[in-house]
Amino acid sequence: MSSYSIESLEQYFKVYRQSIRKPKKFWGKIAENNFTWYQKWDKVLEFDMQKAEFTWFKNAKLNITKNCIDRHLANKGDEIAIIFEPNDPKEESKSFTYNQLYAEVSKMTNVLREQGVEKGDRVCIYLPMIPELAFSILACARMGAIHSVVFGGFSANALSTRINDSDCKFLITADGGYRASKTIKLKEIADKALEKSPCVEKVFVVKRTNEEINMVEGRDLFLQPLLDEADATSIAEIMDAEDPLFILYTSGSTGTPKGMLHTTAGYMVYTAYTFKNFFNYSNGDVYWCTADIGWITGHSYILYGPLLNGATTVIFEGTPSYPTHSRFWEVIEKHQVNQFYTAPTAIRALAKEKIEFVQDYRLDSLKVIGSVGEPINEEAWHWYNDHVGNKRCPLVDTWWQTETGGIVIAAIPFVTPTKPTYASLPFPGIQPVLMDELRNEIEVNQKMGNLCIEFPWPAIARTIWGDHQRYIDTYFTTFPGKYFSGDGALRDEVGYYRITGRVDDVIIVSGHNMGTAPIEDVINEHQYVAESAIVGYPHDIKGNALYGFVVIKDAGLWRDKNNLVKEINQLIADQIGPIAKLDKIQFVNGLPKTRSGKIMRRILRKIAEGELTDFGDISTLLNPEIVEEIKENRIK
Ligand code: WT7
Repeated sequence: MSSYSIESLEQYFKVYRQSIRKPKKFWGKIAENNFTWYQKWDKVLEFDMQKAEFTWFKNAKLNITKNCIDRHLANKGDEIAIIFEPNDPKEESKSFTYNQLYAEVSKMTNVLREQGVEKGDRVCIYLPMIPELAFSILACARMGAIHSVVFGGFSANALSTRINDSDCKFLITADGGYRASKTIKLKEIADKALEKSPCVEKVFVVKRTNEEINMVEGRDLFLQPLLDEADATSIAEIMDAEDPLFILYTSGSTGTPKGMLHTTAGYMVYTAYTFKNFFNYSNGDVYWCTADIGWITGHSYILYGPLLNGATTVIFEGTPSYPTHSRFWEVIEKHQVNQFYTAPTAIRALAKEKIEFVQDYRLDSLKVIGSVGEPINEEAWHWYNDHVGNKRCPLVDTWWQTETGGIVIAAIPFVTPTKPTYASLPFPGIQPVLMDELRNEIEVNQKMGNLCIEFPWPAIARTIWGDHQRYIDTYFTTFPGKYFSGDGALRDEVGYYRITGRVDDVIIVSGHNMGTAPIEDVINEHQYVAESAIVGYPHDIKGNALYGFVVIKDAGLWRDKNNLVKEINQLIADQIGPIAKLDKIQFVNGLPKTRSGKIMRRILRKIAEGELTDFGDISTLLNPEIVEEIKENRIK
């Protein structure tokens, strides 16, 4: 079908107009012509933006793994679906054809079924970036269990919170995982998490590092022996379009992490269609996204999107700088990668190293390069464009979120002219609007506003697991009738969007979403801490880094400052994970507060950024004198 692959700017505008004028007709056609269904829908869309209720492809029946795997077997069973590139380049890479993927996923599906997993059960997956991670996810989808993947860098406490929130009965984990020169003891962390998660009845363990681990009798089972016995064919469950596919946690500005729920048909249609267009994938290409499958980028654009298109997708276990800063480029050359998708933080880190690290490799297999996770600054954009894309490959800066399920604003390569730091134009079906503080739509160009989306798209998250009211309050209340992203943006004369960053208390550190409130809650648990406030400040590599202002109780009691800094960061690492550690901690006698007791973060942000003048009006502060003190002792 012609509108499935968008090949010219003219066609883009035409397709875009159709998608806005007749969204139901538009999405109905895309869904009808490009997927396998057991039964078609009665209605393409029913929705209520106020109540945040969305039904896409009502009453349709399908299984997403039929579309990811089975339907490719006839024509491309012997083509490669997954290439696994291990952490250690000396270990051999492995590949799995679509036939083999079918067999592996079938075995896993059969094992899970035999072990009592049922449709609708939540299965937590806490694994390193190994092929079994893909097989587990797809096996859940095949049998109708809801997967909840937790990133392998999270701590026991964070894992336990997520398991409990969605009441997971099953956990799939590994003995350990490799990350650069380190080994992460995943099973040990999982054991600790399970002390506080009695809902888990069974734990399936993959062997990766082969170290000694503790196995709890009656609860823990090694997967391999079960897989060896299992049948390599399987039947896919018949799922309803709106049956839950997965839960994925994202941190917010307040409280516990939000379990974003994605459902089956809309997510499938949207991730497939966006993958096809944003990466210009053609048959036989090798596509590589460096994200971890523990984040939405990995769900949508390592697994589902590529497999739905019958693509070859690389799963990379390692990191950009291990064993050398050439690793990415070495892997691109080795597997002749055609599409490469990574994060600005990785680009900035590699751009700091000697240029030989990249110049020594032949990157001419590349056709498209992509960026995701945070705004890509001009310097990083040019380095990526010049040295990786060789000014030859379009650089697609893709804006989206866990909540949007797939890419919503980005340039279509070879179609949309790119402009550094601009994500550019909305994808068909996406209606962005910028809103000012008074809730009026911003019509003029070059004025920053709150980025909202006016109309539902198929992959919009359906709810926050167990708390629909929180879903409404977080995304659909600030600007009634619209989805509010939490990001700021502006629009240029051509209609291109530039994302300027978060407008709430979420800080994007190395492309990871960090809510400040949950980290503050952890710090405040320390016996010597009275209260704290965290703000972000610009950082060369991470994009933003975390600066904590901490008020100490009983100043006489605590011993030495350095120790306390270490203890606070240890607490954060234990409770959340090392990614949430603070870069700077300043002990203060008080925080600047309004008369109603609200912390004036605006002032703290300026101090952290080193902007020490022009605080605006501080006369309304309860304690204006504290500002001077904080300024003087700030950490440079
Ligand atoms: C937040 C969502 C979507 C996959 C990765 C993160 C920021 C993401 C961009 C971009 C500017 C971006 C936003 C967004 N963000 N991509 N291309 N330009 N900002 O998913 O963890 O849900 O984070 O990441 O602030 O709201 P996430």
